[in-house]
Amino acid sequence: MAEPESGAGREETAAVDGQRLPTLGVLVSGRGSNLRAILDAIERGELPARVSIVISSRAGVPALDIAAAHGIPARVIAPRDYPSRAEEGAAIVAALRGAGVNLVVLAGFARIFDPCVVRAYPYRILNIHPSLLPAFAGGMAPKPQADALAAGVKLSGCTVHFVTDEVDAGPIIAQAAVPVLDDDTVERLAERILAAEHQLLPTAIRHVLEGHPRIEGKRVLFDQE
Ligand code: GRF
Repeated sequence: MAEPESGAGREETAAVDGQRLPTLGVLVSGRGSNLRAILDAIERGELPARVSIVISSRAGVPALDIAAAHGIPARVIAPRDYPSRAEEGAAIVAALRGAGVNLVVLAGFARIFDPCVVRAYPYRILNIHPSLLPAFAGGMAPKPQADALAAGVKLSGCTVHFVTDEVDAGPIIAQAAVPVLDDDTVERLAERILAAEHQLLPTAIRHVLEGHPRIEGKRVLFDQE
């Protein structure tokens, strides 16, 4: 049985108003609706955590406006500004560490990490993917949704998993299923999956922070309540 040496939720940082809250860093590239779902869950008191930094791989995207509207510090770390993926990765790690982050959430982040990022945060990086993995892995939205529709599956959904060096193949933390309807278009299916993502991601983050996950092979097991 392998247990991450410093599992998510083990470390707590940053006293806020006398409370010690787990500190999240959220990585984005575009629309930012999952970032908004995280911030809304925190504001409703459903996710006891704080977001100390938003990092975007692209400038001028709506996710950065969402961060600003919530008063969250944001950084753009764009690939073209770095001579190599390793240097881009090192900049991401430095920004996360500088912001005291102990759990990283990829919420529509359109980059594949250099391994140095995964090494810096072992089993402390979560990703959300718009399919029921391992089906329809790889590719950014709406490719996984389009692939599911074309394959004729009757159920699709979303997956939150730990990030490892293999794309979309890390241990699965949580999944939610939605039906594929006869009159679905890619857009309609993507919208139904997105609504499920907004519920699943904050819940999965809370589960990781509070549930003392341990990894057995590809399985993520949580303490029984
Ligand atoms: C979501 O469908 C997510 O699963 C995928 O990219 C999309 C991001 O959407 N990884 P948003 O930027 O959170 O609105």
